[in-house]
This record gives sequence, C-alpha cells and structure tokens, in this order.
Amino acid sequence: MTETTETPPRTPANRGLGRGGPDERLGARIEETLALLRRIERAHTPAALASSFSAEDMVLTDLIRQHTPGIGIFTLDTGRLNAETYDLQHRVRARYGAVVQVFFPDPADVEAYVERYGPNGFYDSVPARQACCQARKVAPLERALKGLEAWLTGMRREQAVTRDALPLEEHDSERGILKFNPLAGWREADVWHYLKSHDVPYNELYEQGYRSIGCAPCTRPVTVGEDLRAGRWWWEAADQKECGLHTRRRSP
Ligand code: ADX
Ligand code: SF4
Repeated sequence: MTETTETPPRTPANRGLGRGGPDERLGARIEETLALLRRIERAHTPAALASSFSAEDMVLTDLIRQHTPGIGIFTLDTGRLNAETYDLQHRVRARYGAVVQVFFPDPADVEAYVERYGPNGFYDSVPARQACCQARKVAPLERALKGLEAWLTGMRREQAVTRDALPLEEHDSERGILKFNPLAGWREADVWHYLKSHDVPYNELYEQGYRSIGCAPCTRPVTVGEDLRAGRWWWEAADQKECGLHTRRRSP
C-alpha cells in the first residue's frame, strides 16, 4: 500500500512510531510539544524543567536533552524520597550525563520543622503537612527559580481535579515568571507509549502499582478503580492535594 499525503513527516522524535491510532496521536502530540519547547528555548531562556523524575518529567527530560538542550533541568531533593527515585536519578545521570541540578532544603528549616512537629508530623494535620512541603519543597523551589525567565513542569490536566483547567502556558504571578506545562493535554497512555517506544528510563515504583510518586512517607500504590493521585497524601481530601509548588493564584 502506498503512503497517503496525510502522513505526518517522520522526525527524529517520532521515528519508529507506526501510522494510525495511538501512534499517530502520539506523533502529533510530540510535534506540538517540541514546537513549544523550541519556542521556550528561543525566546524564554534561562528556563528550566522542574523534575521529580516522574514518568511525565522523564518524557520532557528526553525531549529536552535530544532537541532543546538550552533548557535546564533541576530537581528538589526533599530528603524523604524513595530509594527507587534515587536509583532513577542515578540512571538518568548514566544516560544523559550530569544534567540535573539538585536543590536540597535548608537544614535550619528542616530542623525547625522536626522540632515543632516531629519527623512525621505531616500525618497530623493539613497545616503540618503543608509546613513540611514548604520547608522541603517550596523554599528550595524559590532558590531554584532565581534568575529564570520561565520554568516547566510535567503536570497534566487529567491528573487531578485541581489541574483540570491547566493551561499550556501561564504567568506564575507568585514568582513573576512564565510557567509552561507542555504535557498539559497528554493522556497517561501517551506518556507510557513515549517512554516505552523511546526506551527512556523510569521509576521502578510504577511497576509496583504507583501512578504518581512524591515523597516515600506520603505516597502509596493505588488499586484498580482508584484515581491517579489517590496514593498521594491519601489521608487528605482530593481538593487539598497540592504541596504549594503549584499555587492557584494565577493570571492568564
Ligand atoms: S506535587 O505538587 O503533587 O508534588 P506532582 O508530583 O504531581 O506534584 O508533580 C507535578 C510536577 O511538579 C512535576 O512534573 C514536576 O514538574 C514538579 N515537581 C514535583 N515534585 C518535584 C520535585 N521534588 N522536584 C522538582 N520538581 C517537582
Ligand atoms: Fe514532607 Fe510529605 Fe511534603 Fe514530602 S510530600 S515534603 S515528606 S509532607
């Protein structure tokens, strides 16, 4: 059978993907995402991806390292991550080089937290949990964003009720910089199709039933029928489950 004129051009990113169905949809998503990454690299650097080494962040890491290396990557090491996440961080280093800058919490903030709430105080109340996220994630994020014109995340709309109106591009008015969510419209299946077809490393915890991964004490696997983020801060209501990295006061 001869190829039709509607066939999208083969590019380095979608090479190897078949035509029709999910492959074609993924090819189109990759092209749109690459166009956005190229625009960010051209017009909004210094810019960096915030990576928790989630499946989504690994898609973006792979695209950035192959196509738009002018975009940086950083991670916030809370000190409470799973062993599997550190293992992935090491595998990323082997695959792409030492391209991920690591930010740790200020020891004085962690010491003050533990003194006031105890090491696992986050289970006791939403404010106690938010104070831990503030010390271990949000304060280090503010340092990571210093001097950047834009930051990127791996968030997707279908992940949570708090994210169902997530735009591709927004002004992070809290921090006064641009914020891009290049995978906002991707489905979970697209993410996994990309990772598998490009042989990208991913967190082993996904093989154990995890579908969203944060800190070890605040993340558990989910069972069939539970929603994507049911395993995050599972003792809290769904509309509370944001840690302060992604605040809600935004201008369009
Ligand atoms: S969270 O706010 O609930 O923790 P989630 O785990 O869904 O967020 O991740 C959403 C996006 O936030 C990730 O794709 C990544 O861009 C950013 N992010 C979350 N945790 C971290 C982290 N520890 N370091 C860097 N970026 C992070
Ligand atoms: Fe602390 Fe849990 Fe937030 Fe990690 S996810 S910073 S351990 S409250």
